[in-house]
Amino acid sequence: MATLGSRITELASRIAANTTRLNNYLVAHNLPTPSFDVDGPKDTLVPKEETMVEAARVAIIDDTQQLRRLVLGPREYLMSYTHNELISQQAITRFGIAHSFPVGSEASFADIAAATPQLTETDVRKFVRHAINKDIFIEPRPGVVAHNAVSRLLAEDPVIHDWVGASTDDLWQSASQTCAALDKWKGSQEPNETGFALANGGTATLYEVFSREPKRARRFGNAMRSFTEGTGFELSHVADNFPWGELGNATVVDVGGSQGFACITLANMFPSLSFVVQDLAPVVEAGRKQVPPELADRITFMEHDFLTEQPDDIKTLKPDVFFFRWIFHNWSDKYCVKILRSLIPALKPGAKIVINDNVPPGPGVMSKWQEDRFRSMDITMKELQNSFERELNDWAKIFQLADPRFRFQGGKLPAGANLWLLVAEWKET
Ligand SMILES: C[S@@+](CC[C@H](N)C(=O)[O-])C[C@H]1O[C@@H](n2cnc3c(N)ncnc32)[C@H](O)[C@@H]1O
Repeated sequence: MATLGSRITELASRIAANTTRLNNYLVAHNLPTPSFDVDGPKDTLVPKEETMVEAARVAIIDDTQQLRRLVLGPREYLMSYTHNELISQQAITRFGIAHSFPVGSEASFADIAAATPQLTETDVRKFVRHAINKDIFIEPRPGVVAHNAVSRLLAEDPVIHDWVGASTDDLWQSASQTCAALDKWKGSQEPNETGFALANGGTATLYEVFSREPKRARRFGNAMRSFTEGTGFELSHVADNFPWGELGNATVVDVGGSQGFACITLANMFPSLSFVVQDLAPVVEAGRKQVPPELADRITFMEHDFLTEQPDDIKTLKPDVFFFRWIFHNWSDKYCVKILRSLIPALKPGAKIVINDNVPPGPGVMSKWQEDRFRSMDITMKELQNSFERELNDWAKIFQLADPRFRFQGGKLPAGANLWLLVAEWKET
């Protein structure tokens, strides 16, 4: 049996070997070394196609985490999780701390307090030092704060700023109320009986709350974009892994299509396709303003609640494809069935339901770091909507439950993608 000594040295050797591999790649390609210096790179510099180097990077992330946990030991490891891990990030985004002084300059705690009216100098010191300990900002001399690459990203990238804001203000609060919701509404499939509902003063769903708070809804929408732009979520996986080009002059309805990001990508690549983006009113309104003018005649926006039957013009049109990206995982089975049944009057034989969504990996199939994101997303769905991430047989089940004329054809995870492409076809018999 391996002793702890051999396990930690084995991990350390692997980390050293993989770090050398990563470093050699960066040096050979004249790329900067990872650094949080204010002018350091914002992202990992390893292109996705460099699978060996990327595997080394992922192994470093997993192994350093494992090594840290082992050397902490079970007691210190459990106690190393502090309940307010995210509070400085919440304070930074909520009170605009990253924007309170320019990148490249220095500020005292008093200067930051003067620019953030909700905070006293003592509050600023508390939150900023908490953040500095997590590598957000630096303190080059006692009492003097400057940006590093991480705080600079918060100051300069509104999408990341919105992601952190939504994570801390919306998601974290919902998570903290989720066990209370389970105590109250065990086994509920209702989206108004969740941690989110409890965190927002009653029984309203996420969408009801956001429809009353457009600013917050916009931020949440932008936060979603940070996923769409993240590694593995590239829309090229959608474009490259379904035969869009063979559809001819076809219409694709992107149900819950947000501000039309997916349709813009597809419209640019497949000039014979036209698109209708359906979403709730405030989202559609924002989307209309963002369509590039050259695509405006092929991408139209339509306010539509996908829990209700498709509107008459779509029923008449009988589109070729109904596309759902990241929709069903938000809903419990009861509502997925409702969404699918609401399509039926607008379906023609051969129409395809194309889904781009999560299928969680089996335990231990991928790196712990990557698996962690799936496990976290599965719980996030519970927190927000009483939903869950579906394995392949769970996907087949919602189609069977909705109507036997939906023929679920299975799906695939494109190489390098995080979301699966799943397809069902409508057959009249
Ligand atoms: C997780 S987002 C996915 C957005 C988009 N498909 C993408 O891939 O980026 C879910 C979307 O569903 C929309 N939505 C939620 N409830 C809806 C409903 N009842 N009817 C129509 N759209 C809805 C939200 O506004 C949001 O844009």
